[in-house]
Amino acid sequence: MRKFTGNNINKKQLPIGIFDSGLGGLTVYKQIRKLLPKENLIYFGDTARVPYGSKSENTIIDFATQITKFLNDIPVKAIVVACNTASSYALKKLKNIVGIPIIGVIEPGVKAANKKTKNNKIGVIGTTGTIKSNSYKDTFKKINPSVEVYSNDCPLFVPLVEEGWIDHSVTYQIAQEYLKELINTDIDSLILGCTHYPLLEHVIKKILPNSVQIINSSTEVAMEIEKVLTNNNLLNTGNESKSMNKFYVTDFPQKFIDISKNILGYSLENVELVSTELLDKYSE
Ligand code: DGL
Repeated sequence: MRKFTGNNINKKQLPIGIFDSGLGGLTVYKQIRKLLPKENLIYFGDTARVPYGSKSENTIIDFATQITKFLNDIPVKAIVVACNTASSYALKKLKNIVGIPIIGVIEPGVKAANKKTKNNKIGVIGTTGTIKSNSYKDTFKKINPSVEVYSNDCPLFVPLVEEGWIDHSVTYQIAQEYLKELINTDIDSLILGCTHYPLLEHVIKKILPNSVQIINSSTEVAMEIEKVLTNNNLLNTGNESKSMNKFYVTDFPQKFIDISKNILGYSLENVELVSTELLDKYSE
């Protein structure tokens, strides 16, 4: 791995850290890679401890804190919490533990939906943790209180994606069950409030009426990190070297390589294993 020691390179050339419980954050990674081709990116997938969505708030705060400190030690110049569950439960706290810009995925998703809705009736699907936290409802209250939010958790979607069951008939049946109540509302937009869900967008689209537009926040998140880097004078404008991608996972690197190939369209090389024992040392 090319070493980012922090003292021998310009701060702008430091990587952006992006993390999720597993593969889902790659939907955000992909957009950031596309929008900011000069940036060095480090992706962290906590594959040993996925799913996050069914775990308690305290556990998620602990996991997210460990990963944030791990990334900060590399070092990175900014962090994208590419996980709705960790953004819902831990973002505020994470912002206080490291002195670099950190963004989450909830507010960009809300802003994107708010721009698109015509009738102010918006559906949100996410993990049990995200839906229970009310993070979307609370953010809509701040941004546009007249929006009515209809939400539903879809706990089996994440394990299905992690297994690579993206086109499986079982996935389709489960999606029909999860979406049946939302179909009976008159929402005109549906936020995919979990970074794994864009990988099931084709399934979700088949079930929802055509009048419902699907909101995937990853483009908005990429634009937000560009804005934050620009405002902090951290955008990598130099052409000194080719941009670098590096991936860390806490379990099964080969499985991550195999399934991510379907998501990214190419095979990852730079995937390294980090033990959860090491991460535990970053707990407060
Ligand atoms: N992709 C994450 C999210 O956006 C985590 C899902 C999970 O691990 O349950 O919520």
